[in-house]
Amino acid sequence: MKKTFPTDFLWGGAVAANQVEGAFNVAGKGLSTSDYQTRGLLYPPTERAAGELYIKDVASDFYHRYPEDIALFAEMGFKTLRTSIAWTRIYPNGDETTPNEAGLAFYDALFDEMLKYNIQPLITLSHYEMPYHLAKNLGGWGNRQTITLFERYATTVFERYQHKVKWWLTFNEINAALFAHFGPLGLPEGSSPQDVYQAVHHQLVASARVVKACHRIIPDAKIGNMVAAMPQYPLTCHPDDVLEAQRKEREWLFFFDVQARGEYPSFMVRHFEQQNVLLEITPQDREDLRETVDFLSFSYYMSSCASADPEQHKVTGNILNLITNPHLTASEWGWQIDPAGIRYLLNMLWDRYQKPLFIVENGLGAKDRIEEDGSIRDDYRIAYLNDHLVQVREAIADGAQVLGYTSWGAIDLVSASTAEMSKRYGYIYVDRDDRGQGTLQRHRKQSFGWYQQVIASAGANL
Ligand code: BG6
Repeated sequence: MKKTFPTDFLWGGAVAANQVEGAFNVAGKGLSTSDYQTRGLLYPPTERAAGELYIKDVASDFYHRYPEDIALFAEMGFKTLRTSIAWTRIYPNGDETTPNEAGLAFYDALFDEMLKYNIQPLITLSHYEMPYHLAKNLGGWGNRQTITLFERYATTVFERYQHKVKWWLTFNEINAALFAHFGPLGLPEGSSPQDVYQAVHHQLVASARVVKACHRIIPDAKIGNMVAAMPQYPLTCHPDDVLEAQRKEREWLFFFDVQARGEYPSFMVRHFEQQNVLLEITPQDREDLRETVDFLSFSYYMSSCASADPEQHKVTGNILNLITNPHLTASEWGWQIDPAGIRYLLNMLWDRYQKPLFIVENGLGAKDRIEEDGSIRDDYRIAYLNDHLVQVREAIADGAQVLGYTSWGAIDLVSASTAEMSKRYGYIYVDRDDRGQGTLQRHRKQSFGWYQQVIASAGANL
């Protein structure tokens, strides 16, 4: 039996404010940690030279061009669009008591534009950025006060958009904070495990508290978490490699466990002991954590291998150390392409939690070329997406409940890890290069028509 996608499956695409909007200092917006990560998350933050324009400052200029872009998403048949709200458009420094009306008005207009085409906004509250002011003067998420400030921001947007936004996510790839400390946490790169896990704890509490606020303010909304999920296959069948694979998967399953089950998993006790981590967790924190998410979401780009043999460790990925799988090919950036991994992942998460799952990122970063006739033949991207969606369909047939699929970078944007325009993910090409040159004009790629057919046929043409 060839099981199809559910009729109410949320087909769409995903972007994030700091990678697509640009307009970094427009209409009262404050600077965020992302505005200082001029070279991307993989690199330490830099100072901003006066008068200099950095790549994300303009990005894809979505801030000014969103009506055109959303019309194109609608043409593809999107049922949903995932983007984030920039906290610094709403509270420029993060600690004001009154929100910035111009920032709120921008997202009102953006969400209205989506709803005009029946595109449901799926909104991330925090995508790899926080107000720079809080990072510099308060110690970012290392400071417990940030929980309250984040709650104020979240409550403001829940109240403002309660009639427009019914799908929410708290922190993008919350587990990436273990590897990238400045952008997501507002901590210096190279912070100690003690500082990182304490800041992560504050984020987990903040996440649970805003889940509760969302349930109270918008009872008919659904709110989920978001984890960068990476299956780990034992490199050999040696039991030590199997145990190492389990240990590595627990690094990110930890986040799902807390956000889906409402408490720290017992395996973290030993992990914290080994890392000399002693967390401050108050009784109120434990109470707060009990408010769990309605659904689980994740990004999936690649799998990795795990080995107990230190010789096997090579760096081939972006933020994480990966061990090459001899059975897989990789993207130009060394990300291993593994469609079956998404089926494995969906089944694993469904078995473990029995909560609905939402694939909110998946895609191929590649260099695209405009042919002389103006076409962009990204058949490699079509192959990647097609093969992954076939495996999503298999997982649904296996019994996993999957709410939707938003491929990453529906329109070309600035890459998170390396701040490159040339690492393209979109169905829509944006004429801009790594030096910021280009007209910013949009062009449909070959994958545009392909995805349109996928959505129109509810995946029957895969
Ligand atoms: C995820 C992030 O890590 O992967 C996105 O949530 C990011 O923000 C995406 O863009 C792809 O990574 P990169 O580095 O290729 O942009």
